[in-house]
Amino acid sequence: MILLGVNIDHCATLRQARYKGVSLEDPIVEPNPVSLSLVAEDSGADGITVHLREDRRHIQEGDVTALKQKMKTRLNLEMACTDAMTDFALKLKPNSVCLVPESRQEITTEGGLDVVSGKNRVKACIEAMNAAGIKTSLFIDPDPLQIEWSVKLGAPWIELHTGAYANAYYSSKRSAEFKRLVSAAELAHSLGLIVNAGHGINYVNIAEVKTLPYVHELNIGHSIVARSLSYGLHEAVAEMKRLMKL
Ligand code: PXP
Repeated sequence: MILLGVNIDHCATLRQARYKGVSLEDPIVEPNPVSLSLVAEDSGADGITVHLREDRRHIQEGDVTALKQKMKTRLNLEMACTDAMTDFALKLKPNSVCLVPESRQEITTEGGLDVVSGKNRVKACIEAMNAAGIKTSLFIDPDPLQIEWSVKLGAPWIELHTGAYANAYYSSKRSAEFKRLVSAAELAHSLGLIVNAGHGINYVNIAEVKTLPYVHELNIGHSIVARSLSYGLHEAVAEMKRLMKL
């Protein structure tokens, strides 16, 4: 069974659009990504993923620490490979970290972390996490060179970037992109890596994505948060109408 990690960042994106700068404790502030993470867990999520970005555009430190205290499943912290984030992760002790690119210099042509050009920083971070018992995943393109270097640097996990495949889904490139993911998953598995995948996975492409070999966990965010709006809007409007009539 493939595990589902729910990326809850976009709940915080919606909150920050209205309440940036307001204390997370203020009762006016909504939606709350921490309580929504608990709903995701109750609904079957096997883990929660949050990306504490350096620009703090969605998830805030207070979210991550509250989530760590309250959640029951596994916390996967996406982060840039910086000293500040490494220190934060070592204090927080999430179950895993996923190193992702945040600046242009760290990005490969397709958007995964370029572990080859950043090898010294990536290796230092993996070693610090290994010593603290935290699994490190590297968010990389389905590229043999990136996979081979992930092994050389001592990463136990990778997360294959499914964005190029998702973007090509309705084009003639879909089959080639899917084959790249299949080959990448096979290579990574043969080299002893645990293979996760994520980005752009939705309610349509999941039928094919779930046939990828050796996938341990899928991290899915945008489509789940978007779907929850469609499902919840009916109830939300009806409740407001009811209150207006009282
Ligand atoms: N995995 C990683 C490493 C990501 O950065 C993201 C996007 O924040 C996701 C998975 C989830 O992607 P999406 O929101 O498109 O499902």
